This record gives sequence, structure tokens and C-alpha cells, in this order.
Amino acid sequence: MMTELLEIDSVEVRFGGLRALAGVSMSVAEGTTVGVIGPNGAGKTTLFNAITGIVGVDGGSVRFAGDDVTGLEPYRRAQLGMARSFQNLGLMLTESVETNIMASLHLSADYGVLDPLLRPRATRRIEQHCMGRAVDVMVRFELMAYRHTAVADLSFGVARMVELAGLFAREARILLLDEPTTGLDTSELATLLEVLSTARNDGHTSVVIAHDVGFIIELCDVVYVLAEGRVIYSGGPQEVRSDQRVVDSYLGRAS
Ligand SMILES: Nc1ncnc2c1ncn2[C@@H]1O[C@H](COP(=O)(O)OP(=O)(O)O)[C@@H](O)[C@H]1O
Ligand SMILES: [Mg+2]
Repeated sequence: MMTELLEIDSVEVRFGGLRALAGVSMSVAEGTTVGVIGPNGAGKTTLFNAITGIVGVDGGSVRFAGDDVTGLEPYRRAQLGMARSFQNLGLMLTESVETNIMASLHLSADYGVLDPLLRPRATRRIEQHCMGRAVDVMVRFELMAYRHTAVADLSFGVARMVELAGLFAREARILLLDEPTTGLDTSELATLLEVLSTARNDGHTSVVIAHDVGFIIELCDVVYVLAEGRVIYSGGPQEVRSDQRVVDSYLGRAS
């Protein structure tokens, strides 16, 4: 039996008079990959912001791994195992690939700023453990050749892989990816599809926002379509293209 890892119930987010989310419900079963598509301004990024706590909700609830996290700070949700990527890369451009992945890992590492002084040996052990994990993901994402290269000197596609590698290194319980396909060329898209499909087959749980409907259909177990802050479709990836509401409000317009 599948268990729901993430459950969003009737979530509302208002910005002044605008209802960016007008009662959105969604559930994500452990081990599945869920796609979110919809026109610009539909509320997709706001949904991720509400899930991760970057914006507060004006109604509804967010449950994660069995707990109500609706009022929790973003860093607490990160500690519980949420990892998200940003539409514009969430990286330090002047820092190396290795430094960026280590920085991502530290978001979930279990020690404080004073620990290097107070507990030097334990801190060194954690550092070594983090470096081991950083090297693992650099190998897996074929980034070892760029290990000491600044992110600013990489192609956008490789930089996107660095961001993803940092998220995977955290061994989070859920990955929330906001338009990871944007700016990638055909071969980078194929690599991304392979990386995310492998993650799915390995039992990872992900929610992926993308404009590339074909990519979402190929990758995902379940697809949600958002329009004007509401879910207008949720269901299997194969049926989405023929759903009349989706065609009318999104696909018909996009193509
Ligand atoms: N911080 C904010 N302040 C005011 N309005 C916002 C804010 N974030 C998003 N919005 C608005 O909310 C709506 C949904 O935006 P967004 O979630 O970014 O859509 P999407 O990611 O689907 O393109 C848009 O009309 C956008 O302008
Ligand atoms: Mg967006």
C-alpha cells in the first residue's frame, strides 16, 4: 500500500487582492514522481513556496511525513527532508562545484556554527562524511571534471546538474524541482530525464514543475495541471493531453 508523504489540503495564498492559490489540494505518495504543469502565473512556484514555508498560507494545511508542517519555518521543513530547486539556479556562481555541493549538504548537516570550536573532532567527522557524499554525487552526476571549477564558468546545463547534485547529496525525503528543464538543450534534457527516472526507480519521491509537457508525461506517475490558482486536472500522465479542460485552458493555448 502506498503512503502519502506530502498532503496539501485546500491551500490558499493571497497577495493583496490576488488569489495565487485558491484552494489547492494535492497528495504525493512516497516513491512517486508527480508533475505540475500549467500556464505562466498559474501558481506553480507559489505552491512550492507554500509547501516549503517561504510564503505563509491564508488557508488550508500542509502535511509532510505524517506531521502538520503548515506553520513551520522553511529551515525546519528542510531539516525534515524537503529539498527544493529554484527557477533561477540556487547556487553561488563564483564558488566551485565542490563548494556549492558542500554548502547544500550543510543545510541538512547536524551541527552548529560553534561546533568547530566546541567539538572539533566530531565536526571533522561530519565534514569528512559530507565530503564523501559530495564526491559520491559528483561521480554520479559526472561532475568530477568540474570539481574545482567556478559555477559561473560552466554551461547552464552543467550548472543545473550541480544544483541537482547538491539536492541529491542531502538525501532528502522529497525533491521539489521548479522548472529544471528550462534552459537545457536536447542532450541535457535527455540527461536530466535519465537522472530523474533513475531517482524514481530507486524509490525517491519528487515533484517536478515543467513547461515541457512531453518531459512530464514521460517522467511522472501522476500529473497536476494548475490554472489561475486551481487544480484543473489531476490524474495519469497519458490522459492529460486529451482532457478537455486542460486543452482549453493550457495545451490549446501553448501549442
Ligand atoms: N511574492 C509575490 N508577491 C505578489 N505576487 C506574487 C508573488 N509571487 C507570485 N505572485 C503572483 O502570483 C501569481 C502566481 O505566480 P507563480 O506562482 O510564480 O506562477 P507560476 O510559477 O505558475 O508561473 C502570479 O500572478 C504572480 O504574479
Ligand atoms: Mg514559476
